[in-house]
Amino acid sequence: MIVTCENCVSSFNLDENLIKNQSIRVRCSRCHCVFSVSRPGTNQASEQKAGLNKPDAESAGAVQEPRFASPGENPVFNEGDAKTENRTPAKTIVITNQKGGVAKTSTCLNLGVSLALLNKRVLLVDFDAQSNLTVCLGYRNTESFYEIMHSGKKDLAEILIKTRYPNLSLLPSCKNMVLLNKKYFNAANYEQILKLELNTIKDQYDYILIDTPPSIEFFTINALTAADLAIIPCQCEYLATCGVERIIKIIQLVKEKTNPDIDYKILFTMYENNVVVSELIRTKLKQIYDGRTFNTIIEYDTKIKESQIMRKPVIYHNKKSRAGIQYYSLAKGILGE
Ligand SMILES: Nc1ncnc2c1ncn2[C@@H]1O[C@H](COP(=O)(O)OP(=O)(O)O)[C@@H](O)[C@H]1O
Ligand SMILES: [Mg+2]
Repeated sequence: MIVTCENCVSSFNLDENLIKNQSIRVRCSRCHCVFSVSRPGTNQASEQKAGLNKPDAESAGAVQEPRFASPGENPVFNEGDAKTENRTPAKTIVITNQKGGVAKTSTCLNLGVSLALLNKRVLLVDFDAQSNLTVCLGYRNTESFYEIMHSGKKDLAEILIKTRYPNLSLLPSCKNMVLLNKKYFNAANYEQILKLELNTIKDQYDYILIDTPPSIEFFTINALTAADLAIIPCQCEYLATCGVERIIKIIQLVKEKTNPDIDYKILFTMYENNVVVSELIRTKLKQIYDGRTFNTIIEYDTKIKESQIMRKPVIYHNKKSRAGIQYYSLAKGILGE
């Protein structure tokens, strides 16, 4: 059976014959956390399993215990001692555009959740002082990257939140974050600060997704320096295309100065079927940025707005939502690349 560590969310294969009674205590070899695993068929185990297979509001909200992932791509657990085979450092993706309101935060959240549902260990980084991503996941008054830089004691792993959604952790933001820009923007090597911190935990995740503000200062430059790939959400309207041009220029600058390996790809968001402008802009940008646009398009879907009010990823709010299914398909495409 597949079990997931409740602390670091690593998944392992456990021989269920080792569970002599109702449950067994096991220790994760990655983070050394001790947690209980119930025998399949017990109430507790059924609830845990139902939570992952049925991504609906109630099951997601109720999760406290370790969750069960689908068998498949997980590392192997032997004789009650966890061993992880896949220690490839996480792929880091920044979601960025110089324009606000183009679905950066929505993309970060819903793409991240989809990767997590596909059994990838995902860390979402809210690197925007507005904290929209943190709020969308239902958290307030959290610590943030600011506290890591200023407490002197804390390391990154201490402030990460393991969310109620399987495989999904969050580095939250709070309003103090705004001070980082004042304090560090233009300081020596300021561009590397986030990258160096993420390097300390990169082997614990498959994907790290970073949400950014529209302004190009401390946050966006740090996120671009840390990333392997920049996803540029582009709302299918004229002004959003100007934001795309500007951010691509910045990415090229970052490529020259601090991160030669960064790549980028455009994601069309809030696409409206039967609206001529939507299709015109999509076709034009596809021509200009040949090969650098995702085939998956995220359509305009009011379920996204509803889900934000409910403080949930859209697929947990309504598993039939168009945008939710499209983000899931985007995640599958990214895994296949
Ligand atoms: N696919 C979509 N369909 C409808 N509304 C959307 C969609 N994606 C995002 N939105 C809405 O657009 C607004 C801006 O989205 P957000 O993700 O906060 O953008 P950004 O982070 O770029 O500022 C929000 O109100 C959000 O609910
Ligand atoms: Mg945002």
